Amino acid sequence: MRKNIVVGVCGSIAAYKSVEIVRELKKKNWDVQVLLTRKAAHFITPLTLSVLSGRPVYTEMFDAEHFREDHISVANFAEVILIAPATANIIGKIASGISDDILTCAVCAFKGPVVLAPAMNDKMWLNPITQENVEKLQRHGYRIVPPQKGLLASGEEGVGRLADIEKIISFITDIGKE
Ligand SMILES: Cc1cc2nc3c(=O)[nH]c(=O)nc-3n(C[C@H](O)[C@H](O)[C@H](O)COP(=O)(O)O)c2cc1C
Repeated sequence: MRKNIVVGVCGSIAAYKSVEIVRELKKKNWDVQVLLTRKAAHFITPLTLSVLSGRPVYTEMFDAEHFREDHISVANFAEVILIAPATANIIGKIASGISDDILTCAVCAFKGPVVLAPAMNDKMWLNPITQENVEKLQRHGYRIVPPQKGLLASGEEGVGRLADIEKIISFITDIGKE
């Protein structure tokens, strides 16, 4: 049974939903380490996620105060990595092997299951380059909880909403049993 999870949160309007995701994971006895991208920190405060997860939240890689908790120790802690919401940007970066922040470095240094739950505008989701990146990640064993159709933050209808939280949690619960 896996019980240590790293939750990466990206700069999407759906970042607020990570609060509920972390709460649900904690209820299911996961030990949760949250990583926020710098852009995500515009949408949600580290304090909220730190209180809910019971652990400090990391955003910076070059933070002398937390230097012992670097991307490698984070990757060593993880038994699963969940990125929710995953932006078009992080999907592109991971698919290209770019490791320029604590989250992408931790993913690059991690050998276990990585689950991405994308959330973005439908035009970004349907962009052929985004689709190609997602296919590439899947070919390499990354697991995707696909976004769903519905009302988007832009006010338009389309595919791009973060998958239901229950769906994401049940996906992770199944991986926890592997
Ligand atoms: C209000 C606002 C909402 C955004 N929502 C999304 C989103 O849902 N999905 C997405 O892929 N990008 C979204 N973006 C763009 C990302 O924030 C941008 O690509 C950023 O560089 C992502 O950085 P990160 O992947 O390191 O978090 C949004 C930007 C703004 C200003």
